[in-house]
Amino acid sequence: ALQQSFTQRAQKESHRSLNCVQPQASYKVAVLGAGGGIGQPLALLIKMSPLVSDLHLYDIANVKGVAADLSHCNTPSQVLDFTGASELANCLKDVNVVVIPAGVPRKPGMTRDDLFNINANIVKTLVEAVADNCPDAFIHIISNPVNSTVPIAAEVLKQKGVYDPKKLFGVTTLDVVRANTFVAQKKDLRLIDVDVPVVGGHAGITILPLLSKTKPSTSFTDEEVQELTVRIQNAGTEVVEAKAGAGSATLSMAYAAARFVESSLRALDGDSDVYECAFVQSDLTELPFFASRIKLGRNGVEALIPSDLQGLTEYEQQALEALKPELKSSIEKGIGFVQKQP
Ligand code: NAD
Ligand code: LMR
Repeated sequence: ALQQSFTQRAQKESHRSLNCVQPQASYKVAVLGAGGGIGQPLALLIKMSPLVSDLHLYDIANVKGVAADLSHCNTPSQVLDFTGASELANCLKDVNVVVIPAGVPRKPGMTRDDLFNINANIVKTLVEAVADNCPDAFIHIISNPVNSTVPIAAEVLKQKGVYDPKKLFGVTTLDVVRANTFVAQKKDLRLIDVDVPVVGGHAGITILPLLSKTKPSTSFTDEEVQELTVRIQNAGTEVVEAKAGAGSATLSMAYAAARFVESSLRALDGDSDVYECAFVQSDLTELPFFASRIKLGRNGVEALIPSDLQGLTEYEQQALEALKPELKSSIEKGIGFVQKQP
């Protein structure tokens, strides 16, 4: 009884420290690649969510210790570890949201597309297991190159007969997080107020921040637009170079991915006011996949926001046209990878 009362008090304290009215913790989240640079801090941030009842951590190695460590945090979710292909199905049973940061990161001098050969197979195998075990789950793809791994996931799900385009997302939240940070710094705005939609894809020039649509309404000189756009497009490379061979963004990525998970859980929980940018199946342009703002609901993408691509500046319109060939070829490469396999 004493132990129980300590536990209850600790739970209450932890709930108070999360500083909000506590919703019911009832959603199951799985992280595939949970032992990695993104996976570990992401698992920690998800462990802090009051909406999560079960946190399943999967990797090919080294995930047992991560789970044991996290399981001591007195937040609501139960943490379980799963190692290797034989435990993947159990990891995924009844899961509501699957987040996939499994795969290799860039080193200096590499493009995201240089990761294709290794990561395409990893994503394909993991999404096959998702299709078999939790076909209704929201799937968040972090593994690069996102412009190709999302089309790979879509093809796998189609082949398995369970593709729901409303529930497959390429995670581009980090581009928005970066755009918000850099714009707030440049224009001396309160960080909390700034929101910049970022559209297109997630590599180089396919990352297109729509600075003209910044909230609160903000004016930029041509030089500022050029400088900010290039910085946002190259921000991943900025981190890769600073880490000098030790990988790419992990902490800011975990922060961004946790925000996207929390938004998805709020949408699943019935919040009708959830908007995020993500790389999804889209009819906003002639390309089959495109990152843009989406409204999230219980069933995934509830709506795209066509007005986001209307009234663009000449600079944005030209950048939009310029990114299409590269994005198209990355999408086709992903689709071809799955379709060519026997
Ligand atoms: P990392 O090497 O630190 O971690 C990757 C983890 O994946 C490792 O623990 C590894 O064991 C695991 N893994 C490998 N194959 C696996 C498999 N078949 N099943 C399960 N797990 C497997 O790399 P990281 O820094 O965490 O980056 C992971 C990926 O995320 C990279 O592809 C990177 O380019 C990408 N990334 C994307 C964004 C984005 O904005 N979408 C941002 C940063 C990084
Ligand atoms: C990022 O934008 O930080 C990621 O896509 C990782 C990378 O390779 O840049």
